[in-house]
Amino acid sequence: MAKDLKGVRALVTGAGSGIGRAVARRLAAGGCRVAASDVKEDRVDEVARLIRGEGGDALAIAADVAQQKDVDRMTTETVSAFGGLDVVVNNAGVGYAAFIETVEDAEIDRVLGVNLLSVIRITRAATPHLKKSGRGRIVNVASVEGIRGSGLLPVYSATKAGVIGMTRSNAVELARFGVTVNAVCPGPIQTEMLSPLLADEKYHEKLIKGVPMRRLGVPEDVAGAVAFFASEESSFITGNVLVIDGGMTVKAL
Ligand SMILES: NC(=O)c1ccc[n+]([C@@H]2O[C@H](COP(=O)([O-])OP(=O)(O)OC[C@H]3O[C@@H](n4cnc5c(N)ncnc54)[C@H](O)[C@@H]3O)[C@@H](O)[C@H]2O)c1
Repeated sequence: MAKDLKGVRALVTGAGSGIGRAVARRLAAGGCRVAASDVKEDRVDEVARLIRGEGGDALAIAADVAQQKDVDRMTTETVSAFGGLDVVVNNAGVGYAAFIETVEDAEIDRVLGVNLLSVIRITRAATPHLKKSGRGRIVNVASVEGIRGSGLLPVYSATKAGVIGMTRSNAVELARFGVTVNAVCPGPIQTEMLSPLLADEKYHEKLIKGVPMRRLGVPEDVAGAVAFFASEESSFITGNVLVIDGGMTVKAL
């Protein structure tokens, strides 16, 4: 793989599994120095080891993105280890499927905290460093559920629509500092987050039928797009929301 990201300093949240793990590996393969962060300590250690084994440069940071003190520590540790920060990938997230009448207060707080408030707090903490970088990049992992309505994910969808709103607002604010802010909106991607839903065979089948490409996505389908937004090639692209869903959202009936 071309080292198109050589020496670029990146922080990836939720890097312990699924999309975040694939993003961390892809960025490292492109030459990034990657701070791989996750609430699960054993997972980040494992991913950092894996990346080093692949010849990449990785730092493991255990942090809960829903906690302000962890966000501050994660940012400081990354900046001190790498001497600055060029790319932030806000990927950590949790799913929550519940019809609106059964939505629970504790879950509202949890899902908002991990999926949306963390993006606000991490962006606030990282922005001074990204401005200094001269080629700052923020890539937010939203979801097609922030654009369309599935009927089963009201709280989750609200957080992802919020992330898209943040992306656009920050893109305008930070453009003059050379910082681009873009979002990716994955459709159904085969990861741990989706596995409880995929366990239901009928739902699994229905999901695939809804995708014109007749398959679920894999984490690498998202990682390539994130790497593009992190690269020099996307330097005039900001405020974009890129859907990665095998055609699911543009399909009519
Ligand atoms: N899988 C899909 O179909 C899909 C579709 C659209 C969007 N997404 C989004 O992609 C992102 C990654 O999800 P995934 O599918 O790879 O799921 P995943 O469950 O495999 O990975 C999510 C990671 O986030 C970490 N995490 C959870 N809470 C955290 C916290 N408080 N602090 C730090 N890390 C935390 C988990 O430990 C896990 O490693 C999420 O934002 C998700 O909403 C996923």
